[in-house]
Amino acid sequence: MVDVALIRQQFPVFSVPSLEGAVFFDGAAGTQMCSRALEASVRASIENNANLGGHFSTSIIAEQDLDRARSAAAALLNASCAQEIVFGQNMTALTFHMSRCIGRSLRKGDEIVLTRSDHEANISPWLELAKDLELTVRWLPFDFETYGFDLSQAASLITERTRVVALSYANNVTGTINDVAAVAALARNMGAIVYVDAVQYAPHGVIDVQALGCDLLACSSHKLYGPHQGVLWGRLALLEQLIAYKPRPTLDKPPYKFETGTKSREAIAGVGGAIEHLAWIGRTLGGSPVNGSQRNQIVSGMHAVIAHEQRLVQEVLAGLEALDEVKIYGLCKPHDLQCRVPTLSFTLKSTPSAVVSQHMARQGIRLWHGNNFSPETLHALGLDQNDGVVRISFAQYTSSEDVQRFLLAMQHFR
Ligand SMILES: Cc1ncc(COP(=O)(O)O)c(C=O)c1O
Repeated sequence: MVDVALIRQQFPVFSVPSLEGAVFFDGAAGTQMCSRALEASVRASIENNANLGGHFSTSIIAEQDLDRARSAAAALLNASCAQEIVFGQNMTALTFHMSRCIGRSLRKGDEIVLTRSDHEANISPWLELAKDLELTVRWLPFDFETYGFDLSQAASLITERTRVVALSYANNVTGTINDVAAVAALARNMGAIVYVDAVQYAPHGVIDVQALGCDLLACSSHKLYGPHQGVLWGRLALLEQLIAYKPRPTLDKPPYKFETGTKSREAIAGVGGAIEHLAWIGRTLGGSPVNGSQRNQIVSGMHAVIAHEQRLVQEVLAGLEALDEVKIYGLCKPHDLQCRVPTLSFTLKSTPSAVVSQHMARQGIRLWHGNNFSPETLHALGLDQNDGVVRISFAQYTSSEDVQRFLLAMQHFR
C-alpha cells in the first residue's frame, strides 16, 4: 500500500498555504514537481551554472550532472547505454526534429502509418513531413472496444512499402494502453522505423525499450514529476545512421548531434532528480534493496505506484458509473484496469464539459476539458472538438480523499 502522505512530503506544492486542499487531477497535462527534481535544478543553476566542455570546475560538474541525468533516463527506459538518450525542449519538439532527420532518407511514395488514437504531437510532425515529401499516409483506425488503436488492422496496413510507424503507448484521452510490442514486431519485419509516444504511459508503467522492440521512444519529464523537458530514446545504430540537422561544429555522434544549441542543463539536471525520486519510491515503498541498481529500484517504485493508481481508478469508476448523467470513454471493467493508465474522460448528458471544468475549478479541483490535443480520438468518438470531454488524471500523489471530493462535487450534476 502506498503511503500517500509520505509521497506528498516529497512535493513542496502541498506545503504552499495558498494551495491548501488543492486537488491536482491535471497530471496528464503536467504533474507537480518533486523535491529531488527541484533541488537538482536549483543546484545546477547556482553551483554549476556553466556551459559544457570547459576545464574549470563549474563546467566539469555541469557535464557530470548531465551524464548522471542521461544514465538515469537510460535506467528509466532500460536503454542499452546512456548514449541512446537525447534531451530536447519537449516531446513535440523532439518528434518534429527526429521526423525531419528520418525524412532525409524517405522518398516520394514511401508509406508511413499513423494511428487515430494518437496525440497530435505524434501525428502533425509526420503529416507535415508527408506533405513536404509526398509520402503516402495510412491510418490505423480507432478501436471502439479497446478505446485505443485497432491492432487487428495493423498486419494489413504495415507492408514492405512502410518506412515509419508512429504510435502511442497510451491514449491521452481514454487511457488505453496499446500493444506497442505487437505493432513493433510487424513493423520490424517489414524494415520500418517504429516511433513511440510514451508521454502518457511513462508516469504509470514500466518501460523497457529493448523488450518493446521499437526504434525511438519519446516522453516528457513534466508529466513525470520533473521540469519541462523532453526525453527521447533511440536505438544506437539508428541514431548513428541518421543524419542530424545541426550546426557544423556540433559533435557528429549521438546523442550530441541531435541536441542542438545550448542545453537547458538545469532542466536536464531536474530530469535526473525526478528519476531518482522514482527510485526512492522503489527503495522506500516498493521494497527494493538500497544497494540495488537504479533500474530495479525504479521498476519496484513503478509497481507500487501502479497498484495505488489502479485502486483509485476503481474507486472513481464506481462513483462515476453510479451517476446516470455520465458517459465514460474508456475501459471500465475491473479486469481491464491493467490495460489502462489512470486518465479518464467523460461527458455529461446535459452539461457542457467547460461548465463541469469551471465548477470543479471553483471547488479547487484542477482538471482539463476539451480535445486535449487529440482531435483524432475525439473525432472517432463523435465528440465536439471544442467542448470535448472532461478529463481527470491521477498521479502518485493522488489520494482517496481527492477522489471522494471530486465525486462529491460531481453530485451537483446528478
Ligand atoms: C500522449 C501525449 N503525447 C505527446 C504530448 C506532448 O508532449 P510535450 O508537452 O512534451 O510536447 C502530450 C502532452 O500532453 C501527450 O499527452
